Amino acid sequence: MPRIFKNEAALTPEYIPGKLPHREEQLKQLEAYFSGFLENPGSMYPKVILIGRPGSGKTVTSRKFGNHAMKLSNMVRYVHVSCFLNRTLSSVLKDIGVQLNIAIPKRGYSTEELLKMLLDMVREKNIYAIVALDDVFHLVNNSGPHALGTLIRLGEEYVSRGDKYRFGIILISQDLSFRDQLDRSSQSSLGNTVIRFEPYTKDQIFEILLVRAQEALIDDAYDEEILEMIADVAGIDEKVLDDHRGDARYAIDILWRASKLAEIKGADRILPEHVREAIKNTLRGIRSDELRMLPLHEKIFLLAIVKSLMKNPNSPYIPFGIAEDEYKMLCEQYNEEPRKHTQLWEYLRDLNLKGFVETRTSSKGMRGRTTLVSIPSEPLMTLDEELRRIIEGELGT
Ligand SMILES: Nc1ncnc2c1ncn2[C@@H]1O[C@H](COP(=O)(O)OP(=O)(O)OP(=O)(O)O)[C@@H](O)[C@H]1O
Ligand SMILES: [Mg+2]
Repeated sequence: MPRIFKNEAALTPEYIPGKLPHREEQLKQLEAYFSGFLENPGSMYPKVILIGRPGSGKTVTSRKFGNHAMKLSNMVRYVHVSCFLNRTLSSVLKDIGVQLNIAIPKRGYSTEELLKMLLDMVREKNIYAIVALDDVFHLVNNSGPHALGTLIRLGEEYVSRGDKYRFGIILISQDLSFRDQLDRSSQSSLGNTVIRFEPYTKDQIFEILLVRAQEALIDDAYDEEILEMIADVAGIDEKVLDDHRGDARYAIDILWRASKLAEIKGADRILPEHVREAIKNTLRGIRSDELRMLPLHEKIFLLAIVKSLMKNPNSPYIPFGIAEDEYKMLCEQYNEEPRKHTQLWEYLRDLNLKGFVETRTSSKGMRGRTTLVSIPSEPLMTLDEELRRIIEGELGT
């Protein structure tokens, strides 16, 4: 069988490539802001905010900087916390503890106690760390601004107790609205050192794809024109107003899907047709890692919405009740106890908040008022496959 991939992992979302084209400037800024902390740990408390649209390289740049920082200084550690996964102060603190190898009890302690334990241990073990709070708006939306305020002032606690600055922080978000919600003193403590990540242009996406293709694919498997074709749909375009453009994740996902198709079809190289089909099948506003992180029954409920929409191809919306019926059928199929009606409403609210589904209330005329659900921007087939794969993996079926 002809080979397409030489290292498929280089096209996965978690992969950190050797080079990050067009993010040299942001990396340099990070280095500059943290240089004092790295050279003389404890001497200062750097706080930096990274802002940019989805797929603009914030997470990968921060991680890359973290790796670099740990090479520059053997005193300082880098901790990357996903606030999508950890939406409460106590779960953020526990995750920091786990990554720093500090044993923090799972339950039975208040947040204040956890905080104190963490601070004491950090001091005792003489640890210095750069803590990146990724997608920090989830923490603020879920637990309120106070939780973040506490984390921001984490660094100052020590000094008032005669210790050095133990932390530097990087806050990562799509925009600055999380900062506006903070109280004044947290805002001023946070400061306004902001590094911006602009959405990528077509040329930039092309170069990013080229570097990734060189790492992932065998030379004969692709032409540069194939990469240009993908860059054309993914890069920002002055004539097309589209919030999803400029997203490197989308571009890389298309390349991976096109490569996979070429492989499945036994082709010896990626053809334009593979790219066309891949574009049709690629999720745009939904990240598959975010799908994976939803609670199991929220996933099943989302799958029920997808299935109901697929069964009603002529209608963009389905009533909540239809999705609920489908959900119960799926639960039976998966041998799972269905969650209550009110819980499903909670799931719907959350799915809507995350932008996975849109909802509206039906206008009068349709028997009373019902909530209608739609998924306007994602290919249902892909969502269906992806969700089933994740759910069945989780259930071990
Ligand atoms: N300059 C770049 N060079 C190579 N790969 C990149 C570059 N920028 C982004 N990527 C890749 O694109 C994908 C998305 O990047 P990343 O996860 O950093 O985006 P993000 O800004 O954190 O998006 P979100 O706000 O959705 O979390 C990742 O697979 C990342 O490796
Ligand atoms: Mg990210």
